[in-house]
Amino acid sequence: GKGNHRHFMLKEIHEQPAVIGDTLHTYLSPATRSVTLPALPFDWAKVTRLTITACGTAYFAGMMAKYWFEKLARLPVEVEVASELRYREPPLPEGGVCIAISQSGETVDTLAALRYAKTQHQTILSVVNVPESAIARESHAVLPTIAGPEIGVASTKAFTTQLMVLLTMAVAAGRARRTLCSADEERLTRAMIEVPSQVNEVLNMDLAYKNIAEGILAKARDVLYLGRGLSFPIALEGALKLKEISYIHAEGYAGGEMKHGPIALIDEAVPVVVVAPADAIFDKIASNFEQVRARGGKLVLLSDEAGNDRLAHHAAAAAKLPTVDPMVAPILYSVSVQLLAYYTAVAKGTDVDQPRNLAKSVTVE
Ligand code: F6R
Repeated sequence: GKGNHRHFMLKEIHEQPAVIGDTLHTYLSPATRSVTLPALPFDWAKVTRLTITACGTAYFAGMMAKYWFEKLARLPVEVEVASELRYREPPLPEGGVCIAISQSGETVDTLAALRYAKTQHQTILSVVNVPESAIARESHAVLPTIAGPEIGVASTKAFTTQLMVLLTMAVAAGRARRTLCSADEERLTRAMIEVPSQVNEVLNMDLAYKNIAEGILAKARDVLYLGRGLSFPIALEGALKLKEISYIHAEGYAGGEMKHGPIALIDEAVPVVVVAPADAIFDKIASNFEQVRARGGKLVLLSDEAGNDRLAHHAAAAAKLPTVDPMVAPILYSVSVQLLAYYTAVAKGTDVDQPRNLAKSVTVE
């Protein structure tokens, strides 16, 4: 049941500290405080290319993983939505690994993309939340998310646990490929162990998100989400979450793309949610923030203390998140955009757990 929560989605959002912790404990040895994946049927050091495929929110987890694998393991990565990959039938290189990401493990396009990758002799690794699912059965190896059943149609805890599994994989790959030194690995591992309690801190700011949702987002017809670098996939996920449950038109953009089109949309009526931890690319997203402000856009800032100090006074509203290692920040910011979408949908009175036209598991094309 929903316990004392009004919707499954809210319950599942609040389960995240626990299930991220459970997932972490599965792939991280608390004794040695290091990543320990189950034996895999390939050697990371010999992988020529990773091809990641998925649909919807799981696809955004794949986009996130691309940044992590490239940075930590210096591994070439392609990410593609499964419905495109399966019909384009691109050549996949010898020695390649294909990662399929799926909460249900039954998404028909993802399954078909996996089968296509097999014809290209890729080793198939899947990240699923249902270990007995079709995608899991057809994979050479499975790294399950330990999220428990997800009932709300909008994916929340499945997404953040996917992120956690993918990050531990990128760390393991970086170690095997000798692109991640042990000091960095230790720092990252320590950062990952802190995530469940930091997600709790985000959840404790619940009221701030509710106020932004009711005061700004629920009144809008269109909302833009901006992010750069590691925050770009979170901007896309934030926009998807908002549109699917509140029916407000929302788009996620890479900050650098603003001046190539979407800036034409900006006026007082269009809130712009800026996902901007104070990381290496902060100055660049800060300049996108200024571009929007100069055109009268209504800015919602999601940032840490340093970012708030820099920009909050120019925002219509701001939420403050814990200051964390940039590599784990996307997990925390995911929770922020989930809360914004949830409270906006509640304010609009839509059916949060069962949005119109959507199914939890897409087993037909
Ligand atoms: C969005 C959402 C969908 C799913 C997508 C893939 O909140 O839930 O976009 O992420 O349908 O589903 P799975 O992960 O079951 O393959």
